Amino acid sequence: MINTKKLNHLSAFIIICMILGSVLTSVSTIYAQSLEPDPLFLEIESIYRGDKDYKQLPFVTEDPYMRSKNGPTLKNVVHKANKEWIKKWIDNPTAMIPNARMPRLMLSSDDIDAVIAYLESIADSSFPKQEWDAGLLKAEDDMTDDEYDKMDTLVSGGKAIWGRARCNICHAVKGKGGAVGVGPDLGRVAEKVNRDWLYQWIKEPRGYFHETQMSRYRFTDEELRKLVEYLMQDWDFKPEEEEGEGDNGEEETVTAEVTETEETVEAVVDDGPLLVHEGTLAERGKKIIEFNRCFVCHEIEGVLELLPVKRQKSEKETTNEFEKLLNDVRCMTCHNIQGHGGTFAPELTHEGSKLKGEWIKGFIETPDIIRPLLKQMPKFNLTSEEAQTGADFVEEYFVSNEIDLDSFANVAPTDDEISKGKEIYDAKGCKTCHTISEGGIVGPNLKRVGDRMENGFIFFHLKDPHHEVPDAVEPDYNLSDEEATALTHYLMSCKDKK
Ligand code: HEC
Ligand code: HEC
Ligand code: HEC
Ligand code: HEC
Repeated sequence: MINTKKLNHLSAFIIICMILGSVLTSVSTIYAQSLEPDPLFLEIESIYRGDKDYKQLPFVTEDPYMRSKNGPTLKNVVHKANKEWIKKWIDNPTAMIPNARMPRLMLSSDDIDAVIAYLESIADSSFPKQEWDAGLLKAEDDMTDDEYDKMDTLVSGGKAIWGRARCNICHAVKGKGGAVGVGPDLGRVAEKVNRDWLYQWIKEPRGYFHETQMSRYRFTDEELRKLVEYLMQDWDFKPEEEEGEGDNGEEETVTAEVTETEETVEAVVDDGPLLVHEGTLAERGKKIIEFNRCFVCHEIEGVLELLPVKRQKSEKETTNEFEKLLNDVRCMTCHNIQGHGGTFAPELTHEGSKLKGEWIKGFIETPDIIRPLLKQMPKFNLTSEEAQTGADFVEEYFVSNEIDLDSFANVAPTDDEISKGKEIYDAKGCKTCHTISEGGIVGPNLKRVGDRMENGFIFFHLKDPHHEVPDAVEPDYNLSDEEATALTHYLMSCKDKK
């Protein structure tokens, strides 16, 4: 027989143990927490207290990584991409672009047609068009020799611009490149996009998609045409298996099929895999879009949303010239400013205290190579005034209170001091990582460091090499003030000798 009384005692005992246990654990959690606060908590708290070494900016920065929708707007996507491509894409994104982020939604072919019909119904009735030489629009095999040569010249011109513009820093092509980690692989872009759209896009990305992370370069019409030809004609941007096949015929039939069904299909009787059965094709498409919540990632006109989208500041409301430049070139896709933006390129928060204003202007206008290993800034073809705006703002706002720039400001080191510094430079093995006349490429090139860096910052950096970039590989040599001063004198003398 079971003794229920005993059982009651037992369960009471267990309950008491449990209560005691939970009290003990919560006490120990509180105790543990008070010993070791969560670093995230500390960071939030310090931002809240405002004791970061930040100077208050005259505007709120727009972080390209915090956009309201993950994917691009679909408003005019039918002017951008051909229908056959859109269809294959919605069916299976990663089959079309290797680094696709859009999930596969398992829609049936009919549902996809309906979605495309809806996307057609919301698109602007016309899209800016360019005049193209008739020869360029022909298939390669149909071009005359003259036409082919013309095309070929444009393509090689485009290839050179592509290289200088470093498009490859954001875009991988068939898996190669794309170090910034944004932007689709362009390895098959020629089969996707329409050339009128491509021209317009490279010219003004934000005109099509306001929250894009892509930079606007200042290209001339001629440069744009070369780039378009390069992207549309070069094999780098066409799928590999297509080489030599010539599948134009196939493409045409599929497009024709879609146009036929576009208008009229109503109330499909068949129970099959369709999600929505009533209405015109476009109306069904809209419901399918709502059902699949495409709007979570895309701005799609006319579709009911659960939450209203935050309104973006328009260009006109932006009054600060630097803010305009920042948003237009999307500097923050690569650079971090006061805790916002990307981390690919050097953080700009304190660049004004590190770099000389004149050098900044020259660099933004025509970046030269300081850090090799694929970490170079593209040339955006900024005007001299734009570069000056950039440099002035950096000098005024991206400064640190901790860096003392005055003590070395007007120092002119003697030859003796310089050669003493050089001895230390050689002895410490700085050249394993840095190049002056020769050396390594792990760290920035120091050949012109005296033109580039504020003297006071060089000293500051040598005394505390991990202060600005905590995980930098440069060892902390625990240099004495004397050694650091000598090294600073030597590095200050590393200038363009002209
Ligand atoms: C979880 C987010 C997400 C959802 C949900 C989603 N997409 Fe996408 N979509 C993306 C992203 C991100 C891209 C950009 C390409 C990439 O990186 O994958 C994209 C690209 C596209 C493109 C190509 C646009 C262009 O400009 O190249 C189309 C068309 C598209 N999506 C349609 C749809 C439709 C239709 C639905 C709903 C049935 C949908 N998407 C649902 C994230 C999403
Ligand atoms: C700062 C990074 C960055 C740079 C530099 C950049 N792009 Fe982009 N590009 C993007 C991103 C990101 C997208 C996708 C839209 C989005 O999500 O903002 C894109 C989209 C594109 C697309 C459309 C591809 C598609 O499948 O929808 C083309 C074409 C393109 N870029 C060409 C270029 C060219 C040509 C250059 C150089 C002149 C260039 N990009 C430089 C970031 C960049
Ligand atoms: C596509 C990414 C990208 C974009 C967009 C970009 N930069 Fe850069 N930037 C870089 C990289 C990479 C470097 C490092 C270059 C080097 O060391 O050779 C750099 C370096 C710099 C430097 C020098 C920093 C140093 O310590 O050496 C400044 C200043 C700068 N960028 C400002 C800007 C400004 C201002 C904008 C916008 C107008 C901008 N950048 C847009 C990638 C970018
Ligand atoms: C193990 C490699 C390594 C060694 C050795 C090394 N550095 Fe560096 N150094 C770096 C790296 C990496 C950076 C870049 C940190 C960053 O991205 O801002 C750097 C940055 C610098 C800078 C700032 C330049 C800039 O653009 O931010 C100076 C000045 C410098 N080092 C001087 C020296 C001197 C002097 C020595 C020898 C006493 C030395 N370094 C030894 C790797 C090294």
